[in-house]
Formats: sequence, structure tokens, C-alpha cells
Amino acid sequence: MKSFALLSAVVALATASPFAYPRQPLCNANAEACNTKYSNISYIGTHNSAFVGDRDDPRVNQEQSVTQQLDAGIRFLQAQTHKDVWGTLSMCHTDCWLMDAGSLEDYLSTVKKWMDDNPDALITMLLGNGDNVDVDEFADAFDRANLKHYAFIPPTSPEKLEMEDWPTLGEMIGDGTRLVMFLDYGADETKVPYIMPEFKYFFETPFSTDDLDQCKIDRPSEATADGRMYIVNHVLSEEITDDLIIPNEDAISDTNAATGPGSIGAHVKLCREAHGRTPNFVLVDYFNRGEWLPAQQAMNDFI
Ligand SMILES: *[C@@H]1O[C@H](CO)[C@@H](O)[C@H](O)[C@H]1NC(C)=O
Repeated sequence: MKSFALLSAVVALATASPFAYPRQPLCNANAEACNTKYSNISYIGTHNSAFVGDRDDPRVNQEQSVTQQLDAGIRFLQAQTHKDVWGTLSMCHTDCWLMDAGSLEDYLSTVKKWMDDNPDALITMLLGNGDNVDVDEFADAFDRANLKHYAFIPPTSPEKLEMEDWPTLGEMIGDGTRLVMFLDYGADETKVPYIMPEFKYFFETPFSTDDLDQCKIDRPSEATADGRMYIVNHVLSEEITDDLIIPNEDAISDTNAATGPGSIGAHVKLCREAHGRTPNFVLVDYFNRGEWLPAQQAMNDFI
């Protein structure tokens, strides 16, 4: 009996995460969020977070850097990856010749450094795997950026963690596993358990659309809203030519407003009516223009 207790103590010590943090009083700057399940909270996210530059440049989607986005309070980062000509997994817009915003490793290192400095923050990241690269290459970049230890692994992995079984933000932050990582295509949780397949957990509304007056399920095709969290692409695009679709910059103050026609609030209301609950994530371009924070607060007014 005694030796059993001793043995369990040793086992407990050995398995305790060396990265466990003292319980934080705030979770993403909000005390109530600590008691809210991850699957029940809503965040505005930055669409193409890595493509930062001058607003006149049609290739960019954001004016402020990833660090500035996080400093401002953004907690959902979306970005796309492609291989550059040297074979490095990089933050490229459609193709690396069009826009190359640096390696995935550098992008992840930026996030890692910011997370080190902000122990109450829980970040969700959604990466696009445009070139269908093996998930091991993503894992290598996470290793090199030393970001892996922050990544959340569902206790049920590789089986799905059902929506109602997600831990609270307080539990996740307390465990030090406060990066929740999804890949659109090519995840394999039997190989890399902390990179979750987006569409196992979420559905998404259409992207690159000029019609935000809908909340259709675009991907996965044939999916229903049951059992999945969801991401709303609140990004208004305009078609310049058949294959050139760019952010509709002229409409941005209406698009990113908290209320009014075409706003974040109007889209969220439509989605609530369509699917019976608030979106988990809403992606926007040029997040710094408009009223993303009041819009985010309104989505979480139940807590
Ligand atoms: C969270 O729960 C509240 C209260 O039940 C609900 O109104 C809201 O839609 C939920 N949000 C999400 C993202 O599931």
C-alpha cells in the first residue's frame, strides 16, 4: 500500500508537465472565459495573417504584423503555406512567386516568442497546406521553433474530442497547452497528434465570396452543423479577372463594423439563425480597421 502510494507519487512527478503554469486569473484578458469551454467561445481571427503590408498592395490582407495582431488581442490566426523554390515551407500567397512572407519556422518563432511573454493567452492557429506537404514537415517547423510544447493534444487523440467534452480555457492555460493547432488538409494525428484536421472539428462558410449575406456550409461538402464548431469567412472579395480575387478594400469600414448592413454583427446574427449557435471564429481582412473588438465581445455576451 505504502509503496504503491510512493510509486504513484513518483509517476505523477515524472509525468507532470515541466511547462505547467500557475493558474492564471485571466484567460485571454477575461476572467469569465477561464470557466468557458474552448468549444463555446468566439473569436475574431486574422485572415491571411502573414500577408502584411501597405493597403494599396492587392496581395496583402493585413496592415499590422502578427505580433501587432496578437498585441491588439487577436487570438485566432489563419495563414497559408506553400513550398518555395528551395523547398522551404513558407508563408506564401497562392504561390511563392506572388508573395513570400518568410518561412513557416520564422512565423512560428514569432508566435512562440509572443506566447512566452503572455502566459494568459490561448491562441488558435489554422494553417492551409496548399501544396499538400507531409505533416512531418510541419512538425519539423514546430520543433525548430520550439513551439510544440505549447500545443494542445486532445485527450481522446487520435479519436475526435466531442464538442461538449472540450476543456475550459482555464484548464488549457493552466496546463500550459494553450496553442490549438489545425491544418486544413493532410493532418495525421497518429503521426503528429497536436496538428488536428480542421474539418474533423469545424465546418466553414464560403471563402473568396462577394456575398456575405449567407451562412452556408461550404466545406466539408455534405456536412451538417451537428457536432462541429464553425468558422465564418467574413471576408468580402471582389473579382478583378477570372482568376484574380482580392479583398474589397472600399467596403472595409462597413464589413468590419460591429453592426449594420454587411457587418460582422449582421453576419453573426444570420449564422446564429441558420445554425442555432454563435460561430466559434470569424475571419476578417484588415482587422485593425473597423470594430472587431466590440463585435467579438457581442459574440461572447453570454459569459
Ligand atoms: C455558447 O453558449 C451560449 C449559451 O448556451 C450560446 O448562446 C452560444 O451560441 C455558444 N457559443 C458557441 C460558439 O458555441
